[in-house]
Amino acid sequence: MDQTTMPASDRTEIIQTGPLIAHAADQLKQHFTVHELWKAADRAGLLREVADRVRGVAAGGGHNRVDGALFDALPKLEVISSFGVGYDHVDAAEAGKRGLVVTNTPDVLTDEVADLAIGLLIATVRQLPQVDRYLREGKWLKGNYPLTTSLRGRKVGIVGLGRIGKAVAQRVEAFGLPVVYHGRSRQPDVSYPYYPSLVDMAADVDTLISVAPGGASTHHIINAEVLKALGPNGILVNVGRGTVVDEQALIKALKDRTILSAGLDVFEDEPRVPAELIAIEHAVLLPHVGSASVHTREAMGQLLVDNMVSWFDGKGPLTPVPETPWKKA
Ligand code: NAP
Ligand code: 8YV
Repeated sequence: MDQTTMPASDRTEIIQTGPLIAHAADQLKQHFTVHELWKAADRAGLLREVADRVRGVAAGGGHNRVDGALFDALPKLEVISSFGVGYDHVDAAEAGKRGLVVTNTPDVLTDEVADLAIGLLIATVRQLPQVDRYLREGKWLKGNYPLTTSLRGRKVGIVGLGRIGKAVAQRVEAFGLPVVYHGRSRQPDVSYPYYPSLVDMAADVDTLISVAPGGASTHHIINAEVLKALGPNGILVNVGRGTVVDEQALIKALKDRTILSAGLDVFEDEPRVPAELIAIEHAVLLPHVGSASVHTREAMGQLLVDNMVSWFDGKGPLTPVPETPWKKA
């Protein structure tokens, strides 16, 4: 039923947990009665007031946890439509146990994030931010910037060869570099060499690109041992999740030159980045901007809205996550 033509008081009620791109937030308001949880002075009070009416949660990615405590507070909840392909802020396993459906926004951001990963790789290897700072500080007038390391001759190991990992692999191949990968399982649709052991792969490459998701199974899998295996010419690029890398081990490895450099778009405790990491001049640090273009964020927001609308139209979710699979009746 088209809720946009209904009186506002008859529309399905949903909670939005955090800010969303206006393109999506405005559409949600056209379809639903939206309660903006993050703006509530009394969060518990708002939840009590709407508990018997709210049937959906729009989760604005990132830092607002959607878990058993929220599910307990919303007994009529049916669906959680989350912004972003990664959904480690949503307890999807718990949602599955309760018969709730969780959706995310895969595919529409794959190329954007893969492009950013390659940009970050080149920026790190050729020191683009440092070179830019050199010019702006007037240092070129006194002499040329020192020669940098090179992408040429490198061998790239990808951690997490999923949708984005494969798009990164295609781009790396186009740059003429060999690709290998590590993941929890061999991918049937690629011919790149597979390493069941991440340490073994790190020892065989000089460039690691991590596109693995967050969560318990990937927590700190890139640790001191992996960094040591990567070695003194090693470059680590992380566009997956910050929790995949042991950040303290990485800081140490950068400081004592166990590895050469790192390009990071994601961090363990965003938006907080350790001062020690910020002080390391030979690393390149980005504030989680992998998907952050207007084009791609609008596509992600649209998919969040489309999932919610499809659910309440009785057509099921468009992109449910594996923990809450959906079969058409
Ligand atoms: P995906 O298609 O699900 O790919 C994830 C890959 O990681 C899969 O190949 C998966 O293996 C593998 N994996 C899962 N658990 C693992 C483990 N414990 N050890 C090693 N590999 C493991 O997801 P995607 O669309 O490519 O997105 C990947 C991640 O990128 C997201 O989860 C998100 O965290 C991150 N991301 C970041 C940005 C950014 O702005 N920086 C933007 C978008 C996404 P299987 O094939 O066996 O499942
Ligand atoms: C978003 C992301 O920036 O999709 C993901 O998993 O990390 C990014 O695209 C993030 O989800 C928004 O907070």
